[in-house]
Amino acid sequence: MRVVFLGPPGSGKGTQAKLLASRLGVPAISTGEILRAAVLERKPLGLQAKAIMDTGELVSDDLMVALIQERTQDADARGGFILDGFPRTLAQAQALDSMLAELGRGISSVPVFELDLEQLLERVGGRRVCREAEHVYHLVSAPPKTPGICDIDGSELYQRDDDTEPVIRARYQKQWVEAAKPVVDHYDAAGLVVFIDAGGTREQVSAEIDALLARLGDDS
Ligand code: AP5
Repeated sequence: MRVVFLGPPGSGKGTQAKLLASRLGVPAISTGEILRAAVLERKPLGLQAKAIMDTGELVSDDLMVALIQERTQDADARGGFILDGFPRTLAQAQALDSMLAELGRGISSVPVFELDLEQLLERVGGRRVCREAEHVYHLVSAPPKTPGICDIDGSELYQRDDDTEPVIRARYQKQWVEAAKPVVDHYDAAGLVVFIDAGGTREQVSAEIDALLARLGDDS
């Protein structure tokens, strides 16, 4: 199963990618998470990406394609993967198609998360992530047991630098409204897009994705 999650920032792609990954036993690959880890480790990739991410712009296609090419070849991704945050441009989508075609593989499904801007701002405004492993919380809908501390690994929770309202608005406009449409159209033309109502609870959204993948299994 090779699934691509598309959707605006804060629509719950990362949350659902991790839940689905554990159900399917495949890795959830988040390009945002890989970039933030590179920033923390002060790797050249991170140093290049940080200033771009902080303004809500997209990191270059060349860098992102190389990063995904490497990560999808890891042993844990051979049986499938869930991509969260890639592809974000038509060039990235075409590069992914070529990469998979060389291996005689393709994308199984492209769920597209739909949520309006006001709800996105509320979700992102309340998001906190842990320093150790990016476990995701929300101050209202998924608070940690002890304020400011990750339930799972005890590390400190913090607010991402790009989770301020002006940057979220910029990410929404530039990355979703402007850059993502050709990507959605590309997969729609291949009959892979399914729109998901991301406004429900985590459980409702998971159930919707499970039902979609079950239908895929029935059709194959
Ligand atoms: P990235 O980290 O991918 O950011 P994003 O796509 O904007 O997505 P987010 O992580 O903001 O949100 P999400 O949809 O995963 O929501 P989450 O599950 O956390 O990318 C960051 C940056 O890196 C980009 O801006 C760009 O600069 C760069 N980049 C990355 N990939 C790139 C690429 N391919 N090309 C170029 N540049 C790239 O949920 C949000 C909150 O809501 C959480 O608090 C969560 O607990 C809560 N929540 C989740 N589901 C629900 C629910 N059902 N009900 C209530 N609350 C919920």
